[in-house]
Amino acid sequence: MISEDNPVTTLHLAIFASGRGSNAQAIIDYFRNHKSIQVRLIVSNKSHAGVLDIAHREAIPSYVIKDRASFEQGKKISKYLSGYKIDYIILAGFLWRIPENLIDRYKQNILNIHPALLPKYGGKGMYGQHVHQAVSAAGEVQSGMTIHLVSPQYDEGKIIFQKTVNINAHEDPKIIAQKVLGLEHRYYPTTIEKYILQHQKTSG
Ligand code: GAR
Repeated sequence: MISEDNPVTTLHLAIFASGRGSNAQAIIDYFRNHKSIQVRLIVSNKSHAGVLDIAHREAIPSYVIKDRASFEQGKKISKYLSGYKIDYIILAGFLWRIPENLIDRYKQNILNIHPALLPKYGGKGMYGQHVHQAVSAAGEVQSGMTIHLVSPQYDEGKIIFQKTVNINAHEDPKIIAQKVLGLEHRYYPTTIEKYILQHQKTSG
């Protein structure tokens, strides 16, 4: 029950993205008036990423990581996230590996989306169009999306949600991308919400 003795604490999300940010936009839209979850920060490793225009338009603070070596040490970004009291990190097309000390600090609190049905078509170099090209070349008749917790290895953390979509064998990778992106926009925000609310209950 919500009362003055038991106020709802707001949980803060940081979205990490390297590209145009259509998933970031879907997440921002979904949580715009949410009673306990707020998108607090956008982080990108690309100074011209479309996601930074979204942050600007939405008046959400943004942070551009300039130095990969320093990012990999994890100290600076960790301090930055503390400044914004970030509770969960949401990767939405972020192409750098997350430093281990950040994974340790945010254990169970970093989610990633992958545009295929892991464990197939994951791992280093498997992102965006590369994934859809591989799925098409293999003649798959289904693809889909996977949401998983982040571990030190690319695309290997615990899977928390998957959704499939039918495709034609050797379908144009651009069509596969469109179909998968539709699923991502529809299911990433709701899965984030469900996961966080459940995780808050079980982690005390
Ligand atoms: C999304 O399809 C996401 O699944 C993918 O990048 C795209 C970002 O699109 N992520 C990966 O490939 C990670 N391995 P967006 O910038 O429009 O949200």
